[in-house]
Amino acid sequence: MAGMVFFSVSMSLDGYIAPESLSELMGRRWMELQGWVFPQRSFRERLQLGGGGEEGRDDDIVRETFERTGASVMGRRMFDAGERMWPESPPFRHPVVVVTHREREPWVRPGGTTFSFVTDGIEAALDRAREAAGDRDVRIAGGGETILQFLNAGLVDEFTIALSPVLFGAGVRIFEGVDAGRIALEQVGSAAPSSRVTHLTYAVRRR
Ligand SMILES: NC(=O)c1ccc[n+]([C@@H]2O[C@H](COP(=O)([O-])OP(=O)(O)OC[C@H]3O[C@@H](n4cnc5c(N)ncnc54)[C@H](OP(=O)(O)O)[C@@H]3O)[C@@H](O)[C@H]2O)c1
Repeated sequence: MAGMVFFSVSMSLDGYIAPESLSELMGRRWMELQGWVFPQRSFRERLQLGGGGEEGRDDDIVRETFERTGASVMGRRMFDAGERMWPESPPFRHPVVVVTHREREPWVRPGGTTFSFVTDGIEAALDRAREAAGDRDVRIAGGGETILQFLNAGLVDEFTIALSPVLFGAGVRIFEGVDAGRIALEQVGSAAPSSRVTHLTYAVRRR
């Protein structure tokens, strides 16, 4: 049985998922946006940030998100930033399909992550990811431009927003240009285990 297609991102209260420039990644606002996730045990283990870390519902959500995912799809800008920042064994541990206009040979990393580069659009990328994922879910990992294309094409079944108590004012907006007339949402989950984040999960329906 085919799995779901979902995305899961951290978002500022005013709707941004990243600063405007990649050079600001790891800056103050990014750290405030992602402040809830860095202490989590599962995240620290996957990113090789050192042992220990918090356990609890936030950590469960991080772990469950990693575990449900059989393959990921990401945009080239997310990949370009990650290529500089991920550890030698990137956190995915499954096939990752990068949508891009620039061809590149697959990049095989230790630990089970292979990045392959697809230049014929989001549907071809999703076909590739679905095949790799088997009966597990496909995560549209990011960034904003890529997620929006999948959402507007009606290819997303469900998404989770980790809403952080920070205002960006500018940056990469996730829902800018969304085809709001076609998409209806049903809230299917919510959790606010700490004061650092609220997790909101929506099923995507067509109007
Ligand atoms: N807050 C979070 O949880 C979260 C999660 C994930 C990512 N992010 C952040 O999001 C930012 C990146 O987002 P973004 O919106 O700027 O970029 P993006 O979606 O990662 O990548 C966009 C690029 O992907 C390629 N692309 C996208 N669709 C394509 C298509 N249909 N055909 C061919 N190529 C296609 C193009 O690159 P080329 O033309 O160069 O090939 C395009 O410029 C990063 O800063 C990342 O850290 C945040």
